[in-house]
Amino acid sequence: MARSSDPTRRDVLKTAGAVAAAGAIARVTAPTIQRVKAASDQVSYGLIGTGSRGQYLLTHLSKIDAGRCLAVCDIYEPNLRKGAAAIGGNPKTYLDYRELLGRRDIDAVLIATPLYEHFRITRDALLAGKHVFCEKSLVFKAEEIHALRKLAGERPKQILQVGLQRRYSQFYQTVKQMVDKGLLGKVTHVNAQWNRNPGWVMKPDPVRQKELNWRLFRQYSGGAAAELASHQVDVADWMFGSRPEFVSGVGGLDFTKDGRDVFDNIQLILKYPKGQKMMYQAISTNRHLSLFGGARTEFGEVIMGTEGTVEITVGKDNEPPIALWFVEPSPAQPTPAGGKKEKATIANATLTAAAAGSRGLPIMLSRELVTGQDSFLKREMKFARLWMYRKGIMMPREDENPVDTQLEAFLDATRTGKKPLADLELGLADSTMVILSNLAMDEGRRVYFNEIEKMGV
Ligand SMILES: NC(=O)c1ccc[n+]([C@@H]2O[C@H](COP(=O)([O-])OP(=O)(O)OC[C@H]3O[C@@H](n4cnc5c(N)ncnc54)[C@H](O)[C@@H]3O)[C@@H](O)[C@H]2O)c1
Repeated sequence: MARSSDPTRRDVLKTAGAVAAAGAIARVTAPTIQRVKAASDQVSYGLIGTGSRGQYLLTHLSKIDAGRCLAVCDIYEPNLRKGAAAIGGNPKTYLDYRELLGRRDIDAVLIATPLYEHFRITRDALLAGKHVFCEKSLVFKAEEIHALRKLAGERPKQILQVGLQRRYSQFYQTVKQMVDKGLLGKVTHVNAQWNRNPGWVMKPDPVRQKELNWRLFRQYSGGAAAELASHQVDVADWMFGSRPEFVSGVGGLDFTKDGRDVFDNIQLILKYPKGQKMMYQAISTNRHLSLFGGARTEFGEVIMGTEGTVEITVGKDNEPPIALWFVEPSPAQPTPAGGKKEKATIANATLTAAAAGSRGLPIMLSRELVTGQDSFLKREMKFARLWMYRKGIMMPREDENPVDTQLEAFLDATRTGKKPLADLELGLADSTMVILSNLAMDEGRRVYFNEIEKMGV
């Protein structure tokens, strides 16, 4: 029987099952942080690299009661001052990260330096006995992958978490549940983009030009593969439940002639086991996003299965994560022979062509589902909200920004010893992808992921 292309009540209920299960997972992974903790219950931490991301993390950390920032460090004083102001509470400031690591009263460090400094500082922090949260992409070079795996393996009691915040999003977790429960059928492809216009702009500074613009120089940076694709290929790995076999790609430095040497546009194809593939694009000349009815720009992922599709994005602070589910439209019906019916087919042709897709259903979180325990008023409010979601007037929202969830989870893990969702192996897989994708684009060849085993040894 032909399937309806719009999600039916039954489909909604089926998602509800997946959502409820995912909600259960989200509750387990989002730690139960008590607000207003006594100082003795708080994790003492320091943050190294108080540039743009470091300040952003500190602003979020300033609202998280599970930890207390004792120190910040940056080699560049103006950023150091901004970092201290972002967290407040007058943390001690350091220009040399080794002095911060030398403090015995600091249990954990967060690292938000440029990529080329991640390994050195993470290594030294582990050797100093600290728990580490390091921004993605975890490491820069093949030899660092092997060295960090070995070192972290020798120190299993220390937490090592990577800044891949999509792993902490309730929407992404729900979609993973939907994939695992087969609601999308067999997931065969993931498409993703992070397109900007303009891309990174070279900041003028005659003295610190390379330092300030580290992302634009291969000596320090993995370019768009490290800074952008790293998040989204991780999503493909997660949804497929496997790692890529090989990558091919084309990268170009075609449109931005300002002295940089990283590509300004990249396109990658990653082949996974079982024929699954990811198509990836990051360009810097157009930021249109053809998902969510054009309501967002720049970045998002499309997870495509034989029975459905999910469009998803983690969003930004002022544009929260959203996810839409589309049921795969019915296959075309065979045209019956005979004049009258043929006419009907012709008459229907325009209509079919204009409405062959399905309407996207916003993916909900468990707290939105109507339960037997709800009061009359609560139930009515939930129904009203669901109606507005269906009409596109309103979108479901996560309980909190995934960045906050990941930071709370890190601080919590330093106390409980719980393995992070974005752990060492996930970070190393991500870094492997970055290194090999850049190699594939530079050498114009298919690069197999097992090549990493012999690289940098
Ligand atoms: N997870 C995410 O969504 C996300 C978003 C943005 C950036 N990031 C990551 O965060 C990291 C930092 O990016 P950014 O945009 O903040 O860069 P940035 O250039 O704005 O800041 C980096 C800071 O590190 C400082 N620094 C450099 N070497 C140092 C050292 N040895 N010791 C102490 N400080 C040092 C610099 O002076 C600068 O202030 C990168 O790895 C980037 O990929 C992650």
